[in-house]
Amino acid sequence: MEASAIVLAAGAGTRMKSRKPKVAHELLGKPIISWVIDAARCAGISSIISVLGHEREQVIPLVEAETHLVFQENRWGTGDAVAVCREAFADKTGSVVVLSGDSPLIAPETIQSLVRCREEAGAAMVVLTMEMDNPTGYGRIVRDARGQVERIVEQKDCTEAQAGITECNSGFYCFDIEELFSALSQVSNDNAQGEYYLTDVLEICREAGRDVIALKTDSPEECAGINSRVQLAEAATCMQRRINKAHMVAGVTMTDPSLVWIGPDVKLSSDVELLPLTFLMGTTVVGEGSIIGPNSRLTDTCVGSACVVDETVAIQAQIDDEVMCGPRTYLRPGAHLCCGSKAGTHVEIKNSTVGKGSKVPHLSYIGDATIGVGVNIGAGTITCNYDGARKHKTIIGDGAFIGSDTMLVAPVSIGDEAIVGAGSTITRDVSARALGLERNKQIEIPDWKDHQRKKHESDDRKS
Ligand code: UD1
Ligand code: CA
Repeated sequence: MEASAIVLAAGAGTRMKSRKPKVAHELLGKPIISWVIDAARCAGISSIISVLGHEREQVIPLVEAETHLVFQENRWGTGDAVAVCREAFADKTGSVVVLSGDSPLIAPETIQSLVRCREEAGAAMVVLTMEMDNPTGYGRIVRDARGQVERIVEQKDCTEAQAGITECNSGFYCFDIEELFSALSQVSNDNAQGEYYLTDVLEICREAGRDVIALKTDSPEECAGINSRVQLAEAATCMQRRINKAHMVAGVTMTDPSLVWIGPDVKLSSDVELLPLTFLMGTTVVGEGSIIGPNSRLTDTCVGSACVVDETVAIQAQIDDEVMCGPRTYLRPGAHLCCGSKAGTHVEIKNSTVGKGSKVPHLSYIGDATIGVGVNIGAGTITCNYDGARKHKTIIGDGAFIGSDTMLVAPVSIGDEAIVGAGSTITRDVSARALGLERNKQIEIPDWKDHQRKKHESDDRKS
C-alpha cells in the first residue's frame, strides 16, 4: 500500500498514574505503541512516523527501528501533533493514515479499508466512526439532514443535544496529504480546551467544498483507546480472545481459553493442546500434538512435536520431539532436552544438553553439563558447577548411570556406560564402564536398642 502513516503518541497519559509513558505499557508482552505500528505495517504501510513528546526517551528505543521520529515540543493538541510532521511530508502526495498510539486493537484490515475508501471516493478525508452505548469523552459525529457528516464536536464543546449523539470519532483517519496540511494551517485553538484539534480539519475541508466521509465500523472494540490501567486490562483480554480464537481456528485445543495467554509472535502447530494457566510468550514455538500445561510458562522456548510439558517454567530452552517435562520443571536459558528425553519433578536445568532418551526424573540441578544418549540421572543428583568464582562443565557419556544423591563436582567427566554409586561426591573423572564410588564404609553395632534402653534406665535411677 502506498499510504504513509502518522502514529500520535506525544500525550502524557496521566490517568495511568505511572512513571512510564502510556504507550510504553505492555499488552501480552508487547508495548501498546508497537501494536499500532505493527498493524500499520501489516496493512502494507512502510513509511511510518511516530510523534513523540512526553517521556520521549522511554519511547524512542521502542519505535526508532521501525519508524521515523518527530517530536512535538508542546502538547497543543492532536492538530498540532500532526502539524509538526509537515516537513516530513514536504514532497509527498497521496494518502496518510493517522493512528492513535494508545489504541492497540486496531486491525490491519480496518486501516486498509480507510485508505481504500478515501482513494475510491477521491475524498479529502475519511474518519472512522463508531456507535457507543456510552459516548462520554469522545468527539461526536454531527451529520446533516441528508446524513452527510458535517463536523466533529469534542465532548467539552458539545451542546446538550450534541452530547446525546452516540456516533463517535474513533481517532483513526485517512487524509489526502496536501489537503490535510493545507487545512491544518487554518485550524485555531478557539475551543473549550484551547487546543488545536485535528478533528477541525473535517469541517474546514467540507466548507472548502471537498468530500469528507464518515465510515462507521462494525467492531468498535478495535478503536478502544487505553487511558487507564482498567482499560489496559480490558484491551489485554480483548487481544487474548482474538489471538486464542485464531489459534483454535487453526487447530489448537484449549480447555479454557480465558486461562491461556499467548503472545503475538508465538507459533503453534495443529493438534497442540493447551491446558489452563498456560502462558506462551516471546518467540515460543510448539510442534504438532504437544500438550502444554496446566500451569506452564514458556518464554522464547521451542517445543517439538508429541511432547508433554506439565507445570513447567522454561526460558530460552529447546525441547525436541517426544520429550516429557514436569511436573515442576524449571528450564533456564540454554537447556536442551533432546528427542525422547525426560526432565521430571523439581528438576532445574541450565545451559545443558540432555541427550536422546536420557532421563533426569527427580529433584536434580543440572548446570553447564553435557549428558549423552540413554543416560539415567538418579534422584537428587547435583552438578556442582560453581566454585564461588567460576562455572565449570560436567560431561556424562552415553549410557552412563548416575546413582541417587550424587554430587558431581565440576569440572568432571563420567565415561560412557560408567556407573556412579548412590550418595557419592565425585571429584575425579570416572572412566568408561567403571564404577565410581565415594562412600564411607557402613558400620553396624549389634543390639543397639538394648544398649540404649539400659543406658536410659541407669540415667533415670541416678536422677
Ligand atoms: C481524540 C479526538 C476525539 C476522539 C478520541 C478517540 C481530537 C481533538 N479528539 O480525543 O474526537 O473521539 O480521540 O480516542 O483529536 N496527542 C499528541 N499530542 C497532543 C495531544 C494528543 O500526540 O498534543 C496524542 C495522544 O498521545 C493520543 C492521541 O493523540 O495518542 C489522542 O489524544 P487524546 O488526548 O487521547 O485525545 P482525546 O481527548 O481522547
Ligand atoms: Ca484518547
